[in-house]
Amino acid sequence: MLGGSLNTPADRAVGRSLTDRLPVLVPLARAHRAFSRHAVAAMLRQGIRQFVDLGSGLPTVEHVHHVAQAEHPQARVVYVDHDPDTVAQAELLLRDNPFAAAVRADLRQPLTLLDAVVRTGLLDVTEPTGLLAVDVLHLVPDREDPAGLLRRYERLLAPGSCLALSHCLAGAAATLVQQRLGELAHTGALFPRTRAALRAWLASFTLLDPGLADLPWPDSAPPPDEPDSALAVCALALVGSAGQRPARPAADENPVCPAGRRSTVRAMSSPPPAGTIRPATPEDATALAEIHVASWQAAYAGHLPDGFLRNLSVADRQRSWQQWLAATDQASSVLVAEADEHVVAGFAAIGPSRDDNAAPGTGELRSIYLHPKHWGRGLGRLLHDQAIEALRQRRFRQATLWVLASNTRARRFYETAGWAVDGATRTDTSRDGTVLFDEVRYWRDLPPESV
Ligand SMILES: C[S@@+](CC[C@H](N)C(=O)[O-])C[C@H]1O[C@@H](n2cnc3c(N)ncnc32)[C@H](O)[C@@H]1O
Repeated sequence: MLGGSLNTPADRAVGRSLTDRLPVLVPLARAHRAFSRHAVAAMLRQGIRQFVDLGSGLPTVEHVHHVAQAEHPQARVVYVDHDPDTVAQAELLLRDNPFAAAVRADLRQPLTLLDAVVRTGLLDVTEPTGLLAVDVLHLVPDREDPAGLLRRYERLLAPGSCLALSHCLAGAAATLVQQRLGELAHTGALFPRTRAALRAWLASFTLLDPGLADLPWPDSAPPPDEPDSALAVCALALVGSAGQRPARPAADENPVCPAGRRSTVRAMSSPPPAGTIRPATPEDATALAEIHVASWQAAYAGHLPDGFLRNLSVADRQRSWQQWLAATDQASSVLVAEADEHVVAGFAAIGPSRDDNAAPGTGELRSIYLHPKHWGRGLGRLLHDQAIEALRQRRFRQATLWVLASNTRARRFYETAGWAVDGATRTDTSRDGTVLFDEVRYWRDLPPESV
């Protein structure tokens, strides 16, 4: 339909029987592809250099990597499709391209999908991502909550990320298409939606001009005859709601907050919203316990046994936090991140290394946890940077941290923040000895700040 040559005789036969009976499918597929090209170019102009294409089909005929890498040869592109044959062929097509890959995953499982994408080594989740959902979400029925899926992707992506959505429009033309597909005994169901429904899907995003638009028809193809001609709409939308339009991160946007002083600072990867970092007090014990449990349950789902996560107790954690906050020594401390309205959103704990073989002068970043509802706003990075600064001020010359080996998201976060694995590993058990998990150790230098 797109004029490509990479398809089997069987594909071509099915394609011909569909397009003979339903010629509009050809300009429609081309219109979606034209939008995809336009979207990638627009995202490049926003400074985006990495792309994830959901339900990508085959990466042929001016697909994402062609457009992105023509402009920026090292732009990274991961194509995702749930169809094994499509992915196998895509892998072949991309085998000589070091900056593009294809993975098999289902877009209805955002966490698993992003995990697979990160494993390619091409995506840095802390950087803005261009996410494409072109000509695909109308294949997802309402019972699978496609709007909720978009919100989940939105939360998982860094500020500055951008979504390209194109979607079949409910109306006379779509009804006709569905009828014809039914006549052709086409098995794939189509779920066209109204403009109002699609606008509601995008309510938490910032729509870029011209908003939700009719899908442009290629010049070469006349629009269909049906009176309410548009068959599909498209939109480009920034992650983050209106008024919080994020800018491209700049390394010097994160003034240091001296530990012990309350200071409002801007997150490195997201200027607004502001976050506040301050030392924890015993009154924070309940909030820290709640964050501890909620963030473990969200971040470690799939990594730690369900039963263990379910049984985590806020009351137990609260007691531990009360004792800890009352007893911390000079070298240790807990920093608290407050979001708007003085809501405690997360914390980081530091202290001397607890490892037996630690070299003198080694500090430890013991934890960083954010309540899941505050994920994706740059507060984790802010906490990290303040924790590093606090370690430096306590005159540690280097620092280590332990992270779950399977937690690729956290590992990428630390790697982009200057940490590197130092080769040490350990296996942890819970207090009752039932839970086993593997951790790897990361290390980084803490050179004194140049003045
Ligand atoms: C109509 S094609 C669109 C291809 C491409 N986005 C484009 O614009 O040319 C839809 C693609 O989405 C894939 N797909 C459908 N449902 C999916 C799902 N739940 N997860 C991942 N891929 C899916 C199909 O295998 C197919 O390759």
